[in-house]
Amino acid sequence: MNLFFLSPEVWPFARVGGLAEVSHDLPRTLAARGHRVQVVTLKGRMAPEVAETLEPTGITLEVPISWHKYQAQVFKGDLGAGAEVYLIQHDRLYDREGIYGNAFGDYEDNCERFVFFSRACLELAAALGRPVDMVHANDWTNALVPVYLKTLYAEVEPLAGAASLMTVHNLARQGSFWHYDMPLLGLGWECFTPETLELYGKINFLKGGLIFADLISTVSPSYAREMLLPEIGAELQGVLQARRDRLVAVLNGIDNAVWDPATDPHLAAHFSAEDLAGKAVCQRDLREIFGLARDSRRPLVAVIGRLEDRKGLELIVAGLEDMVAMGLDLVIMGYGGDHYHNVLKAAAEANPGRAAVRIGHDMALDHKIMAGADLLLMPSRFEPCGLHQMHAMRYGTVPVVRATGGLNDTVRDHLPDSPGMGFKFQDFTTPAMLEALDRALETFGQGEQWQGLIKRCMWVDFSWQGAAARYEELYQRAIELRRGPGGEGLLCR
Ligand code: GLC
Repeated sequence: MNLFFLSPEVWPFARVGGLAEVSHDLPRTLAARGHRVQVVTLKGRMAPEVAETLEPTGITLEVPISWHKYQAQVFKGDLGAGAEVYLIQHDRLYDREGIYGNAFGDYEDNCERFVFFSRACLELAAALGRPVDMVHANDWTNALVPVYLKTLYAEVEPLAGAASLMTVHNLARQGSFWHYDMPLLGLGWECFTPETLELYGKINFLKGGLIFADLISTVSPSYAREMLLPEIGAELQGVLQARRDRLVAVLNGIDNAVWDPATDPHLAAHFSAEDLAGKAVCQRDLREIFGLARDSRRPLVAVIGRLEDRKGLELIVAGLEDMVAMGLDLVIMGYGGDHYHNVLKAAAEANPGRAAVRIGHDMALDHKIMAGADLLLMPSRFEPCGLHQMHAMRYGTVPVVRATGGLNDTVRDHLPDSPGMGFKFQDFTTPAMLEALDRALETFGQGEQWQGLIKRCMWVDFSWQGAAARYEELYQRAIELRRGPGGEGLLCR
């Protein structure tokens, strides 16, 4: 199958969250299973050693944006396992500090930036000239691609007849812009209707993707159910309900070769479920790096990821002093809202040796945290899948999570009469979170029980193979639907 996989963040070229890892691992797994996989992403700012691996293709694209045509250069990289990656360069729009925005908010020209990305992906497929079977769009930034495939590009060889899958990694980010931006899209006003791109008076990219794609997927079964409800549906629940027969869930995986405590080059010592001795060495190393009390027997709790409301940061901030008082030490690494950076830095200063914060994300440190911590705290308000809890489990770090989305699907609660792999809480409140941490603390004090818990975590298999096979089935079904009766879609024409 000739597959185009579109994503604004692909590890190691760019990363904001888990989408970057998914956009690296899944294409590689699919390529290794024999498909021709072309990942298309943006060429933003990246580390010089990563930029060095790219090669110019010599392809110049002419990207139409309203009545202009802008040029974009195309670079090529190698994801390994036979997966190709193409990077779209247009410095005016993409040579910036962040992909979507900075600590003060989204870029104000995001509509143009991501119309450009979507059209450049399609222009690239046209320039490469090989017939495309399947286009896999991910999140709002390329959600216009399924729309374009059934409108402006419906008759453009080699895209004619290409099917599309729209995967939602976060329904809360939709690409919602005022209607004055409509001409940037190159589509007529007949596409600005409640049946197409309009939502509450605004252009909504993700709505377009959900309506025009042949199939829709999301990254965990729980989230697939939750997004049909108003609390999580973020005003798109009606659209999703109407297309419920096209909505499928495929749980993300992790790369077991990259995340392997027995071989991980970032770790101070190696370990496995059979021999856990190295984990204590990893904890000492981590404590030293973060300036935490070195010989503490207190459990070390890690928080890692975007420092945003939806990740439950407000619960962490409100509960931080209680956690320290309960006898937990804390290590936090992430990047997000400026407000959280300041509050967390102040909390760390107020608790020297007990709490430490690193603003930003560093992949080597990410591995060290997963290996060295005892507990990983993820109190998300919602969580489409979440990868950190899977990494943590593989490294024998026990997750404490709110029972939502993928966190609910990957963590089984540890209860007195039924052994689990972590601790879950339901209510999005600080007391509920502290109560789960308290249960964890109690089990931590019971040596054998705790060892059993760690081992059960490490034995779970979250590898990508099963998910990749599911995506293959989805692609086949999408292609059949696209080629079947009514598959061309008559909307907006
Ligand atoms: C987004 C979601 C996260 C998911 C990731 C990859 O970052 O917030 O839950 O794991 O995408 O699908």
